[in-house]
Amino acid sequence: MPTVTFDGERIECESDARLRRVLLDAGLSPHNGPTALSCHGLGTCGTCAVEIEGDVADPTPRERARLGVPPHSVESGLRLACRVRVTDDLRVTKYGGFWGHHTE
Ligand code: FES
Repeated sequence: MPTVTFDGERIECESDARLRRVLLDAGLSPHNGPTALSCHGLGTCGTCAVEIEGDVADPTPRERARLGVPPHSVESGLRLACRVRVTDDLRVTKYGGFWGHHTE
């Protein structure tokens, strides 16, 4: 079982689980604002953006497209937690800003 480290917590999850769901099920959130204001995992709002250390699949064209819309940028290296499947141990960081886009 892979382990996700986020906000000082270590969460074990099933392989191939979506990262956003893993965090929410653990009582954590990849959103800085209310989850109710998100797209609930459709990959359109961009508010679940996080930094990921560890092996994950490359972003799909849909994820890349959303991360190309400001305030995000593809160059930031952030990923959408709702689009990422957990297949290995990951360390996840959420940055500031409504979209988690303040990486500095
Ligand atoms: S929850 Fe909206 S893009 Fe991930």
